Amino acid sequence: MIKSGFSDKWLEELKSRINIIDVIGSYATLTRKGKNYWACCPFHTEKTPSFAINEMEQYYHCFGCHAGGDVIRFVMEIESVSFYEAVKMLAERAGIPLPEIKEDENIIAHKKKVAKMTELMRDTAKHYHSNLRLPDGQKALQYLRGRGFKDSTIVKFGLGVSTGFTEVVDHLKSLGYSEQLMLEAGVVNVSKDRYFDHLSNRVITPIFNQYGEVVAFGGRELEKSGYGKYQNTINTPLFDKSKTLYGLNFVRNYKKNNPLDSIIVVEGYMDVISLAQAGIENVVASMGTSFTQYQARLLKKLVSKVYTCFDGDLAGQEATLRGLDILRSENIDVLVISIPDDMDPDEYIKAHGVDAFKGLISSALPLIEYKLYLAELGLDPTNPTSRSKYVEKALSVLKELPTEAEREVYLPIISEKSGITFGGLKNTLESGRFTDSASTLTREEPKKNNVDKDKDMSYYTPARFVLYSLIREMSYADLNEDLLPYLEDDTHRDLYRYYVECKQNGVKLITGNMFTAVEDEKEAEAILSPSCNSEDNSISSKYFVESLASLKRRYVDKMVADLNERIRVEPDKAKRSELLSILNELILKR
Ligand code: UTP
Ligand code: MN
Repeated sequence: MIKSGFSDKWLEELKSRINIIDVIGSYATLTRKGKNYWACCPFHTEKTPSFAINEMEQYYHCFGCHAGGDVIRFVMEIESVSFYEAVKMLAERAGIPLPEIKEDENIIAHKKKVAKMTELMRDTAKHYHSNLRLPDGQKALQYLRGRGFKDSTIVKFGLGVSTGFTEVVDHLKSLGYSEQLMLEAGVVNVSKDRYFDHLSNRVITPIFNQYGEVVAFGGRELEKSGYGKYQNTINTPLFDKSKTLYGLNFVRNYKKNNPLDSIIVVEGYMDVISLAQAGIENVVASMGTSFTQYQARLLKKLVSKVYTCFDGDLAGQEATLRGLDILRSENIDVLVISIPDDMDPDEYIKAHGVDAFKGLISSALPLIEYKLYLAELGLDPTNPTSRSKYVEKALSVLKELPTEAEREVYLPIISEKSGITFGGLKNTLESGRFTDSASTLTREEPKKNNVDKDKDMSYYTPARFVLYSLIREMSYADLNEDLLPYLEDDTHRDLYRYYVECKQNGVKLITGNMFTAVEDEKEAEAILSPSCNSEDNSISSKYFVESLASLKRRYVDKMVADLNERIRVEPDKAKRSELLSILNELILKR
């Protein structure tokens, strides 16, 4: 496996010359207890140490904020740098030269292209920005100033304007960029062999990735155009809107010199800019799409508390609410800021000032309380006909909470509003004898563990145990077939491939390296600490066999279902009977 151009072998060599204890020791005070070292977590504020470092396996894990990984991951997080930068810093520390990167030609070509594209984007941004000084740019400049943006803000956020359909094409051509590259970078469109700027006559906001590189542009119309208020760059090799949060680069910079305990997620980039100018700098914007798990993880790396501030009431906005559940499933505390009168943050601070907005922040509701508030919207809990509807909705909100204790905290509120006794509500909640079909708020079953929310545990529990046993080389872990087809999770497949690779090459599997091999570190951690772990080998052995069998059964079941569907839609009789005989064979195997 090649990551950022370094071979596994070289990365292992690097890590073998570095002790994670020394590296982390230069950022935190460590105390040895048993086989682990402990410290107060450098990634979140705490008074008692819950940050553990395993010297043997060379990895760290925080039981508080769930940060974890190997030494490279640690440097990436603490220094806010890329994988490449972290490796470079560690190599310097260890006094070993960076290897000449021998890469596949395709990879080299791709990287060169991406680098060139990044330059192109920066040059494009500079061009748009400098347009504000041209006569043709004055209208846009006045627009931005008219919105209350100071010149220093316009400079900081690199705002600009596209003055026409061809200017940017000509400019970039004069700098030596090909039209093909402009097209691939999403800066231009093409129609009948003519390349043109599709953000023409729009105010431009460059969109940065978390490292501050320009990856896309948002263009806002100066006056009603009928082509959408905003147009954004399409997804390109540099830009994936589901993985981007506008403003994250500024927040990461801010964190270098300021304490940061929360981030506010808003809807529009103009809100980010406006709030920053008013002195609220811990703000990012989602990209006009619903929130993704990837974005949640970007936030989780910086904070454990997120305020959300979406336009309008969220009643019925299922996608948005699901986005908030995604944040919560990453163990992030989610609070909802409500702005009165359908205003967005930018409008609100203009109308009422930044202190009033800070007041809204401090009266933000925790997600559960916000959902309870939504459950009540439009229903009068004291009215006998709408009371049961209210109770049904409110209880299905509570059903999401992981523990009984947490659920009971909110029962008195519902009891007071509806007049139904605490005991009555508790019984209904426990018996589950209420339907939530009418509720648009919550469909998930209650889960014990936030990390596992939305996961099908009938797969995850056995799969994790099997992988755990293999990786830990347990004596009972006897596998004489390929596990890959049975694995349903990308992280599981990556880890398994890594395991097989180590085995085939006769190298020792280093747990710390697992974290470099996978995207989803949390899942990797879950594998290392399985829920079913017995000291008794014969129990574990039995459980291993059962787990394996259950994974296989799932796989066959899926094939059977798949075949059934194909048979159902197959018009050709001969083909259908062929499929049927395959199906019969499968069913016999089962
Ligand atoms: P808003 O319309 O709320 O943005 O859209 P805003 O920042 O308040 O705009 P101003 O203040 O009128 O300038 C929120 C976000 O949704 C996306 C953009 O990402 C925008 O920042 N959006 C909106 C689009 O992609 N296209 C649109 O036509 C509108
Ligand atoms: Mn706005």
